[in-house]
Amino acid sequence: MQDYREFLGEVLITEETLQKRVAELAAEINQDYAGQDLVLLCILRGGMVFLVDLMRQINVPHEIDIMAISSYGLGMRESHGNVRLTLDLKIDIRNRNVLLVEDIIDSGNTIAYVLEFLSTRLPKSLKVCSLLDKEDRREVVVPIHYRGFTIPDKYVFGYGLDIDEYYRNLPFIGVVDLDKYQTPIRE
Ligand code: IMP
Ligand code: MG
Repeated sequence: MQDYREFLGEVLITEETLQKRVAELAAEINQDYAGQDLVLLCILRGGMVFLVDLMRQINVPHEIDIMAISSYGLGMRESHGNVRLTLDLKIDIRNRNVLLVEDIIDSGNTIAYVLEFLSTRLPKSLKVCSLLDKEDRREVVVPIHYRGFTIPDKYVFGYGLDIDEYYRNLPFIGVVDLDKYQTPIRE
């Protein structure tokens, strides 16, 4: 894999700005769910870093669970609406307050699919917390109850978001300069 510095167009959101916003979102969630019980549900793998930072600032009693959705393949940058469940959650969410924690909402296809599927399990409440919102690319209307940042239509990576599965570890959100990026070749 190429060194990210070769294709980093710009740092869109710094580590400091991210951490400040995560704390603000956690404060909002703490207020809204005060006195209640919560399930934080992370969609693998992009939401992981955000979930871990967020949950450490949530003071409402909560369980966490994970689910996975088929993502688009190597070298593909769009979800095309063909979303599929690949890992189901363990918790029975019936009558629970569920907060979905996502890295980014792009077309909205992923979250629309997940919301529809989860609602059949009759949670008490079902809300969405997304760190990023690429609102110009929305194809389906989806509710976003907690939104970190609205960002332009650019491919971003870092802080849980990947470029061909790499660089989720970076503490900031960077923009990929697609002219300088070489898709890794795998056997
Ligand atoms: P949607 O179904 O089009 O809303 O896509 C949502 C999913 O696509 C997110 O959970 C991400 O995993 C992925 N995604 C969308 N845009 C980006 C991006 O700019 N960088 C990395 N992943 C992205
Ligand atoms: Mg992804």
